[in-house]
Amino acid sequence: MRNTIEKALQKQKEKESKSKFIEPKAPNDAAPVLRQEPVLTTPSATLSSSLEPFNIDLQRLSENGHIALLGERKQINEEYREIKRKLLANAFGALAKTINNPNIIMVTSSRPSEGKTFTATNLALSIASEQDKTVLLVDADVLKPNVLNTLGLERRKGLMEYLTGDVSDISEVLYPTNIDKLKIIPAGKSHHLSTEMLASHKMHETVDEFANRYPDRVVIFDTPPLIGINESAILANFAGQAVVVVEEGKAKISDIKMSVERLNPEMAIGFVVNKSVHHDTDGSGYYGYYYAERKV
Ligand SMILES: Nc1ncnc2c1ncn2[C@@H]1O[C@H](COP(=O)(O)OP(=O)(O)OP(=O)(O)O)[C@@H](O)[C@H]1O
Ligand SMILES: [Mg+2]
Repeated sequence: MRNTIEKALQKQKEKESKSKFIEPKAPNDAAPVLRQEPVLTTPSATLSSSLEPFNIDLQRLSENGHIALLGERKQINEEYREIKRKLLANAFGALAKTINNPNIIMVTSSRPSEGKTFTATNLALSIASEQDKTVLLVDADVLKPNVLNTLGLERRKGLMEYLTGDVSDISEVLYPTNIDKLKIIPAGKSHHLSTEMLASHKMHETVDEFANRYPDRVVIFDTPPLIGINESAILANFAGQAVVVVEEGKAKISDIKMSVERLNPEMAIGFVVNKSVHHDTDGSGYYGYYYAERKV
């Protein structure tokens, strides 16, 4: 697996040196603005923020292996910085105009439990620490929602309530958080017609609005695995970028190929190798991530 990724990285490097790939300005990982009190909506915020903000315990997240946003230095922060740099370059750099909805990013994998939610939440936190980007994290894994649980947050209404008409406006399920630049839409209740709901015209319109209304916003969708489940393939129809999480040592190349075939060929596709264990000279292991784009 390492070889494959290294080859992909090498290819990417060659491609970048051939094409005039313009990187976005250096990411600024200053500590995010933590909100003490609910803040009134500003033009660059979202559709509404009159809702009670979610309060994410950043200390707990960091202790659970997520990236650190309270100033401590961690290897994982560096790894996500690299991944996010590529995603932001696709979303806002020179090539953005060649991608439909380049700021809509779906995180998926071939099989369950490879680390989609872990990756989606870390990416959202990492991008929210950019000074000029807002992030909307949407739990679109309506079959097995886990974003709130991963972030240590209580359950609330979400996407499915909006799509089924239980709430009339998306702003009613679009929650601010104690991180100023991060908003969350939970998955909400489960529904036996979730595939139809995600494929609906209403969902399409909503995502297009996400993509176009606030040009400095990144929308990250946590989605189900690609193999054996229809929902992810549907979401691939309107996301401009896909991050395919690959669990090192477990994912089969044939599964990865099959997954990529289920994605939209027009999208920018990147791979994150997760749970990869490197060995330092002292023998200790740590997780690693690699990102290589297949296209663009
Ligand atoms: N790089 C990592 N370092 C530490 N723990 C990790 C890492 N990646 C994933 N995990 C842990 O592995 C478990 C599975 O990860 P996660 O829930 O993100 O997978 P998933 O692909 O979203 O699964 P599902 O298919 O059920 O949605 C979680 O307990 C998560 O905290
Ligand atoms: Mg998950």
